[in-house]
Amino acid sequence: MRTNFCGELNKKFIGKEVTICGWIHRRRDHGGVIFLDIRDTTGIVQIVIRPETKETFKIAEQVRSEFVLKATGNVEERPEDSENTTLTTGEIEIDCSSIEVLNTAETPAFPLDQSSEVGEDVRLKHRTLDLRRPIMQENLRLKSKLTKSIRDYLEKHSFVDIETPILTKATPEGARDYLVPSRTNPGNFFALPQSPQLFKQMLMISGFDRYYQIARCFRDEDLRADRQPEFSQIDIEASFVEENEVMKISEGMVKHAFKEVLDFEIKEIPKIKWSDAMEHYGSDKPDLRNPLRLVEIGEIFKEEEFKVFSDPANDPESRIAALVIENGDSVGRGQIDRYTDFVKEFGAKGLAYIRVEEANISGLNSPILKYLSEKCLESILKDLNLKKGSLVFFGAGDKKTVNDYMSRLICRIGEDLNLLEDGYKFCWVTNFPMFEKSADGNLTSLHHPFTSPEEEDPKKLAKIDPLEMNSRAYDMVVNGIEIGGGSIRIHRNEIQEQIFSILGLTEEEADEKFGFFLRALKTGCPPHGGIAFGLDRLAMIMTDSDSIRDVIAFPKTQSALCLLTEAPGSVPDESLEELKIERKED
Ligand code: AMO
Ligand code: AMP
Repeated sequence: MRTNFCGELNKKFIGKEVTICGWIHRRRDHGGVIFLDIRDTTGIVQIVIRPETKETFKIAEQVRSEFVLKATGNVEERPEDSENTTLTTGEIEIDCSSIEVLNTAETPAFPLDQSSEVGEDVRLKHRTLDLRRPIMQENLRLKSKLTKSIRDYLEKHSFVDIETPILTKATPEGARDYLVPSRTNPGNFFALPQSPQLFKQMLMISGFDRYYQIARCFRDEDLRADRQPEFSQIDIEASFVEENEVMKISEGMVKHAFKEVLDFEIKEIPKIKWSDAMEHYGSDKPDLRNPLRLVEIGEIFKEEEFKVFSDPANDPESRIAALVIENGDSVGRGQIDRYTDFVKEFGAKGLAYIRVEEANISGLNSPILKYLSEKCLESILKDLNLKKGSLVFFGAGDKKTVNDYMSRLICRIGEDLNLLEDGYKFCWVTNFPMFEKSADGNLTSLHHPFTSPEEEDPKKLAKIDPLEMNSRAYDMVVNGIEIGGGSIRIHRNEIQEQIFSILGLTEEEADEKFGFFLRALKTGCPPHGGIAFGLDRLAMIMTDSDSIRDVIAFPKTQSALCLLTEAPGSVPDESLEELKIERKED
């Protein structure tokens, strides 16, 4: 149909006759001459229709935005003052001899050339229009390139691409399952996989040695800017490996992808222990572009009378974290109040601060000075190495809450004061605890229940307090976002049973949920481990998008709806009858 793509035309084509196809991006009428910007997947080119080309001109007078056209004409240099430097094709235009309308279009729901001001709901509802925008075309092309570079790398390293089922049994990854009723087994349900975790482990038991898959995962959980209910993982598993080998292959893959897709060279990726990450960043997803750090300073408040600090200082479940901002004198009183309100949203009772006007006790300025001893103030100055102009915030209270709000404060101040370095900063977080206490007091796995504990002797393991157990898990983090997580797995049945028991599963429950897997473990399971990366998250970071929805063609909203198809939808009574499901009125 066409001889060329719009975006490839440039000065080299001057004098040639070309035929292009595409959509009308913009139409301008300039004193009898009509200019049309024609857009296809490669870019935009301007065509000019003059009144002398009578039939063509007549058509051009009637066409509108988003009509689909085929146009033929000679490529010409643009007059000097009408070059468009924002377009790659901006030095030329096509002097049009004929156009054919391939299809008309209704007035678009939003103009495609100013869509940054269009609400996301409108964009999602009219996604076919939205995806025509050059930025969306670029995002999805980059993602395709990313997928290819990852496949190339893994195939080269002998990983075998194997599909695993979508209609399956529950795989716990910490979210709710999406359930699918079975017509042929009424009353029974499939679960959509939260990840292919158990299948990839069974592929290791089956002797495949190295597996990968770009796997679709489904999680019914609270959504955020970097989460979708349906997303893709680069899922990897290997046999006869330890942590360093999985980390090495993962690093190789990520380095290869960033080089191929963005021409970005990733240097050494540092490893940070989970406990250090929590102490210094208050988070297991530290953003190493941000120079701000927390300092644990509880010790010096132990003997103080100021209860706000001495109570947490004497409680092992609590901490006092100091955040020093050098040159913090630019942060005014009003801003401190806003930071205080901000941390209160996340459970803080207050946000004490000290300003350092001079680096000695009498140079300190703070509403809490009167509550603190001279000795304590000396220690603050010394231990935090405070300099003239510093501003220190203190978060005191139960560890989990302090870490949560202080890590958010680090991010917010880092952005407000423009402290973040450019580029991508990677790290590994390692040595995670096995379990944490959930709000209801029960133990839950920090990763998933198939993660191996560091202690692999069942007798010794039985003697360790579960909250003191470390796991063989690792996460990869870039710019404060977790892009991948994995672990060395439990490969012995007895340890797997022990972990299920710690998690409160009875033998019967474990057998009902995971009997198939426990039986497979008894058939000669090799030591193995792996990792999964969030493909969409990686694409989001690489395209510098604010939302994961900008790298998924047809995403769901924050409330898990598809605005385009209006899914989920209701089903007729007959379908429910067939499935033996009864509707319950609220
Ligand atoms: P995990 O649950 O950490 O591990 O998931 C691995 C990676 O998948 C991405 N991810 C998501 N991306 C978009 N939307 C979501 N809702 C979402 N949830 C997770 C993240 C995350 O790092 N089976 C294990 C992996 C393993 O142990 O090998 C698992 O699924 O980037
Ligand atoms: P109060 O005794 O509650 O008036 O608090 C005295 C100072 O300590 C105020 O500046 C509060 O903002 C601060 N503050 C109170 N609770 C905390 C806390 N848990 N962590 C840090 N600072 C706090």
